[in-house]
Amino acid sequence: MSEKAKIILQGKEHEFDVIVGSEGERAIDVRQLRDQTGHITLDAGYANSGVGTSEITYLDGENGILRYRGYPIEQLAEKSIFVDVAYLLIYGKLPNSAELTEFRRGLTYHSMIHEGMRHFFEGYPSGAHPMAILSAMVCSLSAYYPDCLDPNSDVDMHITRVLSKVRTIAAFAYKHSIGQPIMYPRNDLNYCANFLHMMFAVPAEEYKPDPLVVKALNMLLILHADHEQNCSTSTVRMVGSSNANLYASISAGILALWGPLHGGANQAVIEMLERIRDSGGDYKKFMQGVKDKKERLMGFGHRVYKNFDPRATLLRKMADELFPHLGIKDPLLDIAKELEQIALADGYFIERKLYPNVDFYSGIVYRALGIPTNMFTVMFAIGRMPGWIAHWREMHHDPGRRIGRPRQIYTGAVTRDYVPIENR
Ligand code: CMC
Repeated sequence: MSEKAKIILQGKEHEFDVIVGSEGERAIDVRQLRDQTGHITLDAGYANSGVGTSEITYLDGENGILRYRGYPIEQLAEKSIFVDVAYLLIYGKLPNSAELTEFRRGLTYHSMIHEGMRHFFEGYPSGAHPMAILSAMVCSLSAYYPDCLDPNSDVDMHITRVLSKVRTIAAFAYKHSIGQPIMYPRNDLNYCANFLHMMFAVPAEEYKPDPLVVKALNMLLILHADHEQNCSTSTVRMVGSSNANLYASISAGILALWGPLHGGANQAVIEMLERIRDSGGDYKKFMQGVKDKKERLMGFGHRVYKNFDPRATLLRKMADELFPHLGIKDPLLDIAKELEQIALADGYFIERKLYPNVDFYSGIVYRALGIPTNMFTVMFAIGRMPGWIAHWREMHHDPGRRIGRPRQIYTGAVTRDYVPIENR
């Protein structure tokens, strides 16, 4: 017999099923709660609420575990490439060689954007934040591929398009912001090398991406690729639950990611480190400000990780390999390591279980790759694309799917009569 949870409300006992996940996670199934009891649950920030079940990503924040479709993030980061991981997340299995070849072929041959879209870039001011451009452009893809409005259209084709074109859009936005000619994608380059080419090549000379830089980019994108029900993924699911098309749903996810408490933190970390450096490098004073709640240590803390974020550990290791190879010495990396040491030994951070998250080191690594600060969150968005797509697709395959529509407890004025303007 399955386990039950009992809730006593106004003297009456109600029973609800307990659902147990494949890794032993437990939930009380309250789908009948309101019908049975007239009550709802209140859960600010959804910290105790599950949107449903998912087979995509397992995250154990207490033990610093992250697995995509069962595969540990450490193994994927070390042994795999981003395109392989994207297929895994979206389609649920590691592709065999024929499947990978076909998937790659699709990504290669759908990398260009409609020439009409190029003019959009010219309309933006050069200082426009690339996240604004990325979100608008991804949504605009739905205008160029209007069959996406038909739920029976070829979803795999839309998936290929958005996954491929997001790189082109991101790189074109960057080229426009610095006044350089855009570089079209090249079919002889793989996913990451092609993106680096569009970002850093110029028509005047050949550009050969450094293999270690390509490897580092693959790893960064893999680390970003999914993180179960985070703010942006929940947004994609919420928007998609109304049957909005894939491009519109992803565009909404990009906007949710932009905020500094989410993906925007990687830009905020660098700005914080620069501020500390420019004010003489007094990190002790800065840390006191954090403890006095005048500052927030960006790149620290996580809703789910309460031990360590495995992605931060991998990134720190990668920085140690990459920096000597590129001959880079970045004082911001030293400041970051110093802040981490202070925080890990300080009662304020220990008590609250605050550890470096993925964004603490990702910006420093992106900087070393030559990516400008305002493009960091765009990089996160490119990486998160397979996760958003996988969740959107999983939700659409769920026969029990319903439109996302939370409830509330109203605490405003009770009914009262309208007051004409002359009596107010
Ligand atoms: N610096 C200083 N204090 C912090 C921080 C921080 N970065 N994060 C949390 N706290 C404190 C917070 O003030 C609170 O203290 P108290 O109990 O005294 O009120 C306590 O720790 C709990 O914090 P919370 O805000 O209730 O935690 P949350 O789970 O709601 O927020 C978070 C999680 C990631 C938004 C938060 O830790 C934060 O703002 N971190 C900095 C921004 C950041 O790095 N975001 C990227 C997250 S990882 C990438 C991604 O997946 O988005």
